[in-house]
Amino acid sequence: MDRRQFLSQSLAASGSVLLAKSGSGLQLAEQVPAAVPGSKVSSARFPNGFIWGMASAAYQVEGAWNADGKGESNWDRFSHTVGKIKGAATGDVSCDQYHRYEEDVTILKRLNQKSYRFSTSWSRIQPTGTGALNQKGLDYYNRLVDALLAEGIRPFCTLYHWDLPQALEDRGGWPNRDLARYFADFAGILAKNLGDRITVWAPFNMPWTFTYYGYGVGVFPPARSSFNDFLKAAHTVNLAQGQAFRAIKAASSKATVGSAYGMAPAYPKTDSEPDRAATARYHAMNNLYFLNPAMTGEYPKAFVGDIPYDAMGYMPGDDQLMKVPLDWLGFHYYTRRVVSDAKTASQSVSGGHFGTETEGSSGARDPLTQIHVEMPTEGPLTEAGLEIWPRGMYDLVTQISREYNHPIIEISENGCCYLDTLDDNGRVPDARRIAFHRQHLAELARAIADGARVRAYHAWSLIDNFEWADGYSQRYGLTYVDFRSQKRTVKDSGLWYGRVAASNRLDV
Ligand code: FCB
Repeated sequence: MDRRQFLSQSLAASGSVLLAKSGSGLQLAEQVPAAVPGSKVSSARFPNGFIWGMASAAYQVEGAWNADGKGESNWDRFSHTVGKIKGAATGDVSCDQYHRYEEDVTILKRLNQKSYRFSTSWSRIQPTGTGALNQKGLDYYNRLVDALLAEGIRPFCTLYHWDLPQALEDRGGWPNRDLARYFADFAGILAKNLGDRITVWAPFNMPWTFTYYGYGVGVFPPARSSFNDFLKAAHTVNLAQGQAFRAIKAASSKATVGSAYGMAPAYPKTDSEPDRAATARYHAMNNLYFLNPAMTGEYPKAFVGDIPYDAMGYMPGDDQLMKVPLDWLGFHYYTRRVVSDAKTASQSVSGGHFGTETEGSSGARDPLTQIHVEMPTEGPLTEAGLEIWPRGMYDLVTQISREYNHPIIEISENGCCYLDTLDDNGRVPDARRIAFHRQHLAELARAIADGARVRAYHAWSLIDNFEWADGYSQRYGLTYVDFRSQKRTVKDSGLWYGRVAASNRLDV
């Protein structure tokens, strides 16, 4: 039996116990490692004005892949290539939010949401990534933003959630330094046209993930596997982040610019000095590699040796281009990591491919950081195979608060995959998803009580959608989608989250 089969069998077993024992999943959750006691859940309170939101991304929800002059993106090309996506799925139609955004905004309103984090498709706005604006593509975002504001929902715009115009991939993709300038032009176009209404901008979603998966290990487009290409791509993205920040601020005086980084709290496998040092390198590479250059102009200490400036394509003065102290920090939390020094690591337990939280299966992840990273399985697992570790939320938020002098924080994503579907009464009783968010939110409330300045939480996702290389085999939505009819049904978790948003408490 391989690890995935083992996981799905144990999941099936634990899931049925959980549902049989408890409607909310809380009782059993109290018996498992890292679970938050029910008393902490019921006493948790969020401050007045706390911003409750939901998140999505253009390629995952919009569909309309070639409508109204949109150009081809790297994800269009990748999903149209045989063998790249589970079930040969594509985002061609997905949940068709391009045509159904009004219905989706109505759901947000019904669930008392105050923020919708969406992303823009670069190739809708500039079909080949440079040059003239495609007005029809921009008009879609005008309509979406206006519909959100009409319902009192804050539009939170991520400029880039992984879909690059294919024409720019053909020019070398992110390892090509010119992309920083093109991206800044794109950012300027958006801020000039939408900046009278959007005040919250994040240039990149999970920059480590798309640069490493796309250029370092090849599980995302353009499927290249070169650590040097990763280093170059990541450096261009750091330059692009800085230049986009300036372009947005120049075009809109109301703009605030932050981030939507993917982060994972990391714990050393043993208390040894090498494992603790490796854990610090993991934190620098995965959590801080794009944050620290923005805040200070400097790369964090992610490497065993010196920073490989030549391999990165670093040029004199780049520190000043990268340095743009962010107005607020946004990051996602899904699951934790356990890290050891690759030279001493036991190679028995390790990662594998779990959606966007992937780790290699053995040895050092790369030659320069020499970290060995595990996705632990001590806690229960979601149906994507990710360990549920609510305490990681507290640890991560308080660590970043400490390290960056108590910045304003937004949780830009948190969520879980469960495959619950419609029952005979037309409901989706996804008690495990309620338990997941409840526990993570209880830990977030604890971090806030201990002084972290967290102002927002975004559940991933408003709606079931295209889950990258996993296609439609994973469901993260708080709203169920029948992909044949496009019918939306708010899941029990969505109804619960709507009550949370209305009351600032979790025992609802
Ligand atoms: C995050 C991604 C998001 C989605 C969720 C499940 O890492 O930002 O697009 O895939 O994982």
